[in-house]
Amino acid sequence: MEVNGERFKINSADPSTTLLEFLRFNTPFKSVKLGGCGACLVVLSKYNPELVQVEECSINSCLTLLCSINGCSITTSEGLGNTKKGFHPIQKRLAGFHASQCGFCTPGMCISLYSALANAHHSNSSGLTASEAEKSVAGNLCRCTGYRPIVDACKSFASDVDIEDLGFNSFWRKGESKEVMLKSLPPYNPKDHLVTTFPEFLKKKKKVDNGLDHSRYHWTTPLSVVELYKVMEFANSGDSLKLVVGNTGTGYYRDVDQFDRYVDISHIPEMSKIQKDEKGIEIGAAVTISKAIDALNEESKSCYVFKKMATRMEKIGNHSIRNSGSIGGNLVMAQSKKFPSDITTLLLAADASVYMLNGEKTEKLKLLEFLELPPILDSKRVLLKVEIPSSTSDILFESYRASPRSIGNALPYLSAAFFAHVSRQEPSRNGVKVDKCLLAFGSYGSDHSIRATEVEKFLTGKFLSYNVLCEAVCLLRGIIVPGEDTSHPEYRKSLAVGFLFDFFYPIIESSNIICSLDPAKSLPFLSSSQHVVESNEFQPVGEAVIKVGAALQASGEAVFVDDIPTLPDCLHGAFIYSTEPLAKIKSISFSEDVTPCGVFAVLTFKDLPQEGQNIGSKTIFGPGPLFADELTRCAGQRIALVVADTQKHADMAAKLAVIEYDTTNLELPILTVEDAVKRSSFFDVYPMFYPEPVGDVLKGMKEAEKKIILAKFSLGSQYHFYMEPQTALALPDEDNCVKVFSSSQAPEYVHSVIATCLGIQEHNVRVITRRVGGGFGGKAVKSMPVATACALAAHKLQRAVKMYLNRKTDMIMAGGRHPMKVTYNVGFRSDGKLTALELTMLIDAGIEPDVSPIMPRNIMGPLRKYDWGALSFDVKVCKTNLPSRTAMRAPGEVQGSYIAESIIENVASSLGMDVDAVRKINLHSYSSLRKFYKGIAGDLVEYSLPLLWDKLEISSEFNQRSEMVKKFNKERDFSSTDYPSGYAEANTGKVSILSDGSVVVEVGGIEIGQGLWTKVQQMSDTLGLIQGGFTAGSTTSENSCEAVKLCCIILVERLKPLMEKSGSLTWNMLIQQAYAQSVNLSASTLYKPEFTSMEYLNYGVGVEVDLLTGRTEILRSDIIYDCGKSLNPAVDLGQVEGAFVQGIGFFMMEEYTTNEKGLVMQQGTWDYKIPTVDTIPKQFHVEILNTGHHKNRVLSSKASGEPPLLLAASVHCATRSAIREARKQFLSWNCNDGNRDGFGMDFELPVPATMPVVKGLCGLYSVNKYLEAKIHGK
Ligand SMILES: Cc1cc2nc3c(=O)[nH]c(=O)nc-3n(C[C@H](O)[C@H](O)[C@H](O)COP(=O)(O)OP(=O)(O)OC[C@H]3O[C@@H](n4cnc5c(N)ncnc54)[C@H](O)[C@@H]3O)c2cc1C
Ligand code: FES
Repeated sequence: MEVNGERFKINSADPSTTLLEFLRFNTPFKSVKLGGCGACLVVLSKYNPELVQVEECSINSCLTLLCSINGCSITTSEGLGNTKKGFHPIQKRLAGFHASQCGFCTPGMCISLYSALANAHHSNSSGLTASEAEKSVAGNLCRCTGYRPIVDACKSFASDVDIEDLGFNSFWRKGESKEVMLKSLPPYNPKDHLVTTFPEFLKKKKKVDNGLDHSRYHWTTPLSVVELYKVMEFANSGDSLKLVVGNTGTGYYRDVDQFDRYVDISHIPEMSKIQKDEKGIEIGAAVTISKAIDALNEESKSCYVFKKMATRMEKIGNHSIRNSGSIGGNLVMAQSKKFPSDITTLLLAADASVYMLNGEKTEKLKLLEFLELPPILDSKRVLLKVEIPSSTSDILFESYRASPRSIGNALPYLSAAFFAHVSRQEPSRNGVKVDKCLLAFGSYGSDHSIRATEVEKFLTGKFLSYNVLCEAVCLLRGIIVPGEDTSHPEYRKSLAVGFLFDFFYPIIESSNIICSLDPAKSLPFLSSSQHVVESNEFQPVGEAVIKVGAALQASGEAVFVDDIPTLPDCLHGAFIYSTEPLAKIKSISFSEDVTPCGVFAVLTFKDLPQEGQNIGSKTIFGPGPLFADELTRCAGQRIALVVADTQKHADMAAKLAVIEYDTTNLELPILTVEDAVKRSSFFDVYPMFYPEPVGDVLKGMKEAEKKIILAKFSLGSQYHFYMEPQTALALPDEDNCVKVFSSSQAPEYVHSVIATCLGIQEHNVRVITRRVGGGFGGKAVKSMPVATACALAAHKLQRAVKMYLNRKTDMIMAGGRHPMKVTYNVGFRSDGKLTALELTMLIDAGIEPDVSPIMPRNIMGPLRKYDWGALSFDVKVCKTNLPSRTAMRAPGEVQGSYIAESIIENVASSLGMDVDAVRKINLHSYSSLRKFYKGIAGDLVEYSLPLLWDKLEISSEFNQRSEMVKKFNKERDFSSTDYPSGYAEANTGKVSILSDGSVVVEVGGIEIGQGLWTKVQQMSDTLGLIQGGFTAGSTTSENSCEAVKLCCIILVERLKPLMEKSGSLTWNMLIQQAYAQSVNLSASTLYKPEFTSMEYLNYGVGVEVDLLTGRTEILRSDIIYDCGKSLNPAVDLGQVEGAFVQGIGFFMMEEYTTNEKGLVMQQGTWDYKIPTVDTIPKQFHVEILNTGHHKNRVLSSKASGEPPLLLAASVHCATRSAIREARKQFLSWNCNDGNRDGFGMDFELPVPATMPVVKGLCGLYSVNKYLEAKIHGK
């Protein structure tokens, strides 16, 4: 094979080795990464000898087996462009559109876009369209940018894009002519820039031979069905056997890692071809989904069903999964492993059949018969091909799927596909008759896709009417029965009913029936605008400079901890964690008492050095243990560290660990905040973190004309989902020293924890953090135990030890945002003016204090954004037997802001008033601002919220849109944020001038994607110092900048005498003279901001939305964000958009829950859905407002990393408004029977407002109600 033009010949490889493992461990190319979907992508080039052409597509290297790409050529992002040969225009444009923050996802984005460009070039002479460009990254996850800049970079390659529609970038400034804009873009020319190569020597290769030592490795590549049969026969009966095409199945069934035999079936011509004739189309089982889609599209003119199937299949997985996953693999996973396949549902409705190899015979079965067989995987039967019949005219075919993301890689809650043959009985008035129908449903938690035959029978021969449809949907409700452990069973049922209604209802309503239904709604185009004012007052500070290293991140050359080359004897660690919340640990062993392959040691608290301590983390509120001692205190607590020769072996061993627990004589664990209250289990909160009440609440309540008493709601958690999981590498060094590379937001703390744990002095420890692949607070405290465990193992075993947490373990240990329960009393006047608010809050902090005691202060900051009249509160930080919660972007602040909005909503609802009128009447005057915020309120000129509010009302066309929304029965919303920001964290800076005049800048803050290096470089050029504290609270960039600025002032003072003496000098000459005269050219400072200057207010406002059948689509969001005087508006814009989209995840999508023992339930990208490109606002307008002077701020700048996240509450509020409209409609169909079904206008919308939640509140069976109303003539 070839990688980036370099030839690799492999003679021995474990057949379970993935391409990713090979690339990362055996080649210098590290741009492919494991951790976030899309980060592992590569371009695969394959020679097709029959067509005499090279075929190219993107694939997931983490799923592809190395042996299956024998004879192929691979290109990674480094292969597209790099520092040596020059960056590729894709890499340059992603950098110039400010589309890379932490950079972990960026190489994958490059490959996705490259693949789309290559595809467009080969298939369509007019090139990539804007719509294709937008969809090209639909399967890639990015947690930092909010996607908008990535989409703009992609669209800059589209042939049909209006260049003026592209967003803020470093290539041109607003107002420049189109010609100038076009010229400024790094040029792209397919001839020069479609750079993937395919070497001649691989084309000449005739025989498929993997070159492996067959006595050791059982990988076979049969070239015909006969050969395949012989291979199957030859296998011993007990051998586990894996037929391989794409191997994407392992993405879902991660647990099975190793088989006895691997059989590559992709070279068998009978299984790889597609045949078409007038009867239909036959697709070989080894044909990839992408190729099947192409073939169906080619036949779409002759058969309407094929077109529909192709369109639907484009929603399966993502480009790369469709490029390597086969039709046969999908069907067999559905048949044998209950995989919730979309394809089986489609094929059932299309009346498909399959051919199977059974022994030497080939048998043909209807698809349903095939699905109902016992699992064929156990019986050595092979699926050979699928046959889909053509359908003639007068038919209807439609398919549906309800999934958390429309095209961004998410399995559906339910899929459905319907085929109907109907006829109109002219001139009869009976309407439309159903002659035949096939109704298929799947992915709802059944064993496999099914046909609703009873409903089919019922409908066949009937004339469609409201009554008939009503009976049909009632019948269907009894047929769709999700399996026992399926989540949201009633919601899934309701979807089936809704889809059936959607299929037949238009036929009843309309006379235009045949082949006219086409609800495959195309994705509205993403449009955006950014308004950014650059300031040249402190140039280059204030300029929108490209993020330092952005192109390097895009090419994948940027080095993350796991990319650091290690010695061949490096060991790898994996944590064994508890599954019990409170229990004695009796023993730790491995399944069947066999030590798994590659295991070197298992370390527990008993292995700590005598002088050391069992400490794995610390904050100002106290330490947390590295391992559980005799007692585990929460599910997910670290019990031991398995150390093995490879990461794969360490992970497998940790999975095989067996812990014996004993709960006798132990009290029950505390698993809820209510339990904590009963048992008085709380963490202390220092007075400085417990704000004071405001005004006299008793008096305020007396003045109230109306009250809401004891209203309650709760808020859930959220996982950080940094794209690079927790990782560290420790190297033992001479004289009891240890060097640790840690992906941490708090290296200073990591340093101290390691020294204390190992019982050595701090100077014996060196912690290095170069960059972090996303943190969002999750790599502050929670990075410490990972680095400490590696250091402990390295110290004890005197070998390098690395650890790269798998996503499941990472999710289990991360703790996430603080969930909380809120109860309140609020008093107000009839005009909506608030008079008093009394709050009680129970915060679930988990088992360790972490940073939880800061929560009361953080919550109360944004909560004071309205003039409540008077405010009092009782906040308890509860200690529970759950993993400790930690800081996550805008910790407490996002909840505080939401609580305020939620109360305002409730007040408006109880008064029947417009919610924005209630908001507006309660916005602070400057005097009430001073009452609520005291010293941090700033000067009157700094109070920019009223200005922002008015500005946004105009720029968002609020009034016109509001009218439009009313007409269309949709809603919109306002929300604002006041954000006391930051911690009084000191930050260090050191500036040294080297003899050649170049400058080294060192700062304590860490680059986690937020652009800290860039901002610091604008102050002066940069690297990490020891006294860095936490890189958190959004203010580290500013403080690092100030520290560097102070160093520069010192150096200038030292150089001044020389300059004055020598007159005008070049920089280099000046430095040479300074060296000659032994001037100290290194200066360091510690900048400690005043506590009061660290707290200041940020303002921003957002508008919104539309909602349909449980799925919410954010049609438009407008944000104006006051950045003070932005240090770098490009970086700040990225932070605002990224934070807002992360907030959308919190409010709308991300469920991070625990089971009855407190163990986290979500285990990866399959069940934890962060926003993708198709979930961000369709119109996204952001303005960075430079509001001039702010006296206590570094060069008048304000933070942008966290406050904008709060604004995403606007999406939630708008959803609530839309639901209210839906409920009004639902009630209007109630046929005057007086039954409101509990459907009042006062309801609580949980966070996150996921599809099932929203649909539930809109009425699961609104369809039935609607039909009943129709029957009654309403
Ligand atoms: C991230 C991701 C997202 C996905 N999203 C969707 C989705 O939205 N909708 C959907 O329907 N599917 C989805 N899938 C499933 C995907 O379609 C299948 O994983 C893929 O089609 C399997 O094909 P494969 O060639 O990779 O199979 P492999 O992984 O190579 O094989 C899967 C299993 O089938 C067996 N097998 C393969 N071929 C045959 C054969 N011809 N005869 C007998 N046994 C055989 C193998 O032994 C193995 O046990 C998704 C998968 C992933 C990883
Ligand atoms: S830049 Fe995309 S994950 Fe950080």
